[in-house]
Amino acid sequence: MLKQVKVNKMTENDIKGVYAVELQCFGESAFPMDWFTDVVYDENCHYYVAYLDDKPVGYVGMHVNSHTEKPYCKIATIAVSKEYRNRGIGRLLIEKLLNIANSLQISAVKLEVETDNVAVFLYESFGFKITEVLENYYTIENKDAYVMWLHQE
Ligand SMILES: CC(C)(COP(=O)(O)OP(=O)(O)OC[C@H]1O[C@@H](n2cnc3c(N)ncnc32)[C@H](O)[C@@H]1OP(=O)(O)O)[C@@H](O)C(=O)NCCC(=O)NCCS
Repeated sequence: MLKQVKVNKMTENDIKGVYAVELQCFGESAFPMDWFTDVVYDENCHYYVAYLDDKPVGYVGMHVNSHTEKPYCKIATIAVSKEYRNRGIGRLLIEKLLNIANSLQISAVKLEVETDNVAVFLYESFGFKITEVLENYYTIENKDAYVMWLHQE
């Protein structure tokens, strides 16, 4: 199945399908649709969509922050439709972003994630390390977050 998954850069044509994945995965915490319109036209944003048989089944997004002394990338979001999870699509999407960060010659990649989210295991498997706990970071769900960093060679 994974061999049939294609990962493409997100365009305006993908937004409707991506937004359906977003709503299914995040419910009331979902980004608004406008968020996706903004990021597809922002050159500092790198959003990719996983397609299976022309159907969007997941997406991932990363923002480049070059306003700090050392530029870094921040993974802003990742989601895979419930019915397609645990098949390696999340891993494929993170690999894509880490390749993009490499090609931009940016070695530091940051993210924030709920402390009890299974995504922590996904990130750790790429070498991300927890550096900080942000208490009550997700205010709607009243949940804490980990800050995680990866420094690629
Ligand atoms: C997090 C998410 C994107 C993972 O997508 P996925 O396609 O299921 O992930 P993969 O199948 O590629 O799994 C990759 C790794 O993640 C970890 N992982 C994924 N699901 C897991 C689970 N239920 N329990 C434990 N580890 C899990 C494992 O380390 C796994 O590697 P392995 O298969 O070699 O053991 C998906 O669960 C999701 O969309 N969750 C809802 C949205 C969300 O919470 N996003 C994160 C916001 S920061």
